[in-house]
Amino acid sequence: MKTRDAAFSIGPAKFRNRVFLASGPAGYGTEYEGLIDLRRLGAVVTKTITFHPRAGNPGRRLWETEAGLLNSIGLENVGAERFFAERLPRLVDAGARPVVSLGAEDWNEYRSLLDASAAAGVVDAVELNLSCPNVDRGGMSIGGDPALVAKYVRAAREALPDAAIIAKLTPNTGDITVLARAAAEGGAHAVTAINTLLGMDLCGAGQEPVFRRVRAGLSGPAIFPVALDAVWRIVRAVDIPVVASGGVSSVLDARKFLAAGAAAVEIGTAIFYDSALPERIVEALEEECGGSPPKTKPRKGRKR
Ligand SMILES: Cc1cc2nc3c(=O)[nH]c(=O)nc-3n(C[C@H](O)[C@H](O)[C@H](O)COP(=O)(O)O)c2cc1C
Repeated sequence: MKTRDAAFSIGPAKFRNRVFLASGPAGYGTEYEGLIDLRRLGAVVTKTITFHPRAGNPGRRLWETEAGLLNSIGLENVGAERFFAERLPRLVDAGARPVVSLGAEDWNEYRSLLDASAAAGVVDAVELNLSCPNVDRGGMSIGGDPALVAKYVRAAREALPDAAIIAKLTPNTGDITVLARAAAEGGAHAVTAINTLLGMDLCGAGQEPVFRRVRAGLSGPAIFPVALDAVWRIVRAVDIPVVASGGVSSVLDARKFLAAGAAAVEIGTAIFYDSALPERIVEALEEECGGSPPKTKPRKGRKR
């Protein structure tokens, strides 16, 4: 039985519920149209786009570990022009609620991408990928520096004044709450925590690195406790909503993120082996309490 409406807002953007597809595993969203009813989800965060198209990293890109997945995709994407002309309209036609993920190699590319996003005239929610571990420039090298996080967020607020700006943070840092505070100071409406954790593996008779770049991003169930810890601490450090990402593989995981204070939950790696999970979570939260997190947000610095 549905007890109350699950809809909620982040800044100026409205979402029909708190269950999002994470950026990347679902591509541009429509790849999963036959498997997931995209209209049921709170949002589909699209694969990160850059201004220029990117071919991604050479060599192996995915590698399963005992309890997770290592990836080294390297932000392969069609670039801003094709994304706004072809991919985004298709996703909207499919009835999805998009959040556009933006990434860049450097400041100039970032500015061009913000301009292209503004010119598209349809972007009302973005997730800034300040945290990709699989590229030589941009990504994590921007997102690990609090001053750059604030600067990139501020620029997005100025270029897209009517859009919700969500900053996606890297866990590959000393204290992720420092980055969350910087995002909030820059004017972010929300942060997403976490992107993948750095890791590597060896394989073959000579035990060589699996990936050409050696290090890759770990996702899946293995990182859930790390993500939960990050969300728990960020919720208590900043006054903006926290979108949880990392290792959700069951309805219970989603409930735990919401209980920790997350405003919404993203599902990534799990859709590779359980594409019904996002809709199961939507249904479970609707039956329970409309998917809302606890009414009382913990106060900053509260001891537990
Ligand atoms: C194959 C793959 C591709 C990804 N691509 C992106 C991306 O383009 N942009 C981004 O912000 N995160 C990307 N991620 C990270 C996910 O959005 C998510 O934050 C992370 O995997 C942790 O969540 P999960 O354990 O539910 O997958 C990617 C993850 C995977 C596994």
